[in-house]
Amino acid sequence: MQPKQIIIFDTTLRDGEQVPGCKLNEKDKIIIAKNLELLGVDVIEAGFPISSPGDFQSVKEISNHIDHTIICCLTRAKKQDIEIAAQALKYAKRPRIQTGIGTSESHIKHKFKSTEEKILNIAYESVKYAKQFVEDIEFYAEDAGRTDNLFLAKVCEKVIQAGATVINLPDTTGYCLPEAYGNKIHFLRENVPHIDHVTLSTHCHDDLGLATANAIEGIQKGARQVECTINGLGERAGNTPLEEIVMILKQKKALNCFTNINTKMLYPISQLVSQLTGMVVPPNKAIIGTNAFSHSSGIHQDGMIKNSETYEIINPHEVGYNNSSIVLTARSGRSALIYRYNQLGYALKTNQIDTIYPIFLKYADKKKAIYDEDLKEIIKRV
Ligand code: KIV
Ligand code: ZN
Repeated sequence: MQPKQIIIFDTTLRDGEQVPGCKLNEKDKIIIAKNLELLGVDVIEAGFPISSPGDFQSVKEISNHIDHTIICCLTRAKKQDIEIAAQALKYAKRPRIQTGIGTSESHIKHKFKSTEEKILNIAYESVKYAKQFVEDIEFYAEDAGRTDNLFLAKVCEKVIQAGATVINLPDTTGYCLPEAYGNKIHFLRENVPHIDHVTLSTHCHDDLGLATANAIEGIQKGARQVECTINGLGERAGNTPLEEIVMILKQKKALNCFTNINTKMLYPISQLVSQLTGMVVPPNKAIIGTNAFSHSSGIHQDGMIKNSETYEIINPHEVGYNNSSIVLTARSGRSALIYRYNQLGYALKTNQIDTIYPIFLKYADKKKAIYDEDLKEIIKRV
C-alpha cells in the first residue's frame, strides 16, 4: 500500500499565541512563519484577523513573506470576520479561510441559545460566503469532540455542499478518549455521503494529556491533516505538539504515513519559539525537552555507553539535537564516571577508579549534578 501523506497544519501563531503570557510581535511572527516554511509545514495558521488590528497586520505581512506554504486564518461564522480575513489574505499566494461554529449541545444551547437547524444554516451560509473570496475553505465544527455524531454528520454534509475543502473536527476541550475520537471519524466516513470530497483534520487539545494519542487515532481512522503547534503551545493545557506527531509518524513504520517535515529542524525551531514567546519548554518534554536525551541512572548509563539503542529510540541528530548526554549524579555508576573522565582526556585504571568513585559519590550526594570542573577537582584531590 502506498504511504499516506499527512498534512501538517501548524497553528502556533493562532491557537499557540492565544496562551496567556505569550505575546508575539509582528517581527517575531514573521521569523516564526519563515522557519515553519523551512521546517516543511504544509499550512500555517497565521492568526485571527478580526481579533485585533495587530493580528490583521501580522496575517497580511506573513502572507507577503511566505512563498509556498498555504496561509490560513481563522474566522467565526460571521460575514464581517470573513471579509476581514479575505483582506488580510490578499497577498497570500495560497490562501485558506477557516470558518466555523460550535456544534455541541452545550455550545448550541448555552453559547448561541440556538437550535440545530439554525446552526446548520449558519454553517452552510458561512462556507458559501467565504467561498466568494477564496477557493480553499476549511470548516471547523467547534467542540466536535462532544458533538452528537448524527448531528455532526449532517453538519459535514451541509458544509461539503457549500464548498468546504477541509473539515476540522476539534476536540476543543480535550474531552475524548482516543477510541471515541477515532470512532467519530470512522462514523463520519461511513455516514456522510460526500465525505471523500474533503480532507478531514484533527485538532486536539491536551486537557487530559491525550492530544497526541487522539490525533494518531484520528489518522488511523482516516484523518489526513493534523493541526498542531510547536512545543504543544495552545489554549489551557495546549494542542497536539507538532514534534510528537511528526516523530511518531516517522518512527512507526506500521502506520504507513509520512510528512514533509525536516525533522532536523525540530529542536532548533522549538528553541526559537520558546525564546520568542517566553514559554519555557519543560525539561522532560518528549522529543525536544533538555532531558529527552540525558541519561542519569547508573543502569541506563551503562547500557547507553555500550549501545545507545538500549535506552534511546530516537537518534538525537534526527531531531537536530547535538548529542545525548551522560549526566553524573549520585545514581551514576562507575562506567559513566570512566566514560566522562575519558571525554575529559583521562584514561583511568581500575584501581584509580576504585579510589575516585567513593569521593565522587560524596560530591554527588551534596550536589544535584557533577560537572567537568568537579571531576577535575576530584582528580586534583586524589
Ligand atoms: O479548539 C478549537 O476548537 C479551535 C477552533 C477555533 C479551530 O481552536
Ligand atoms: Zn483549538
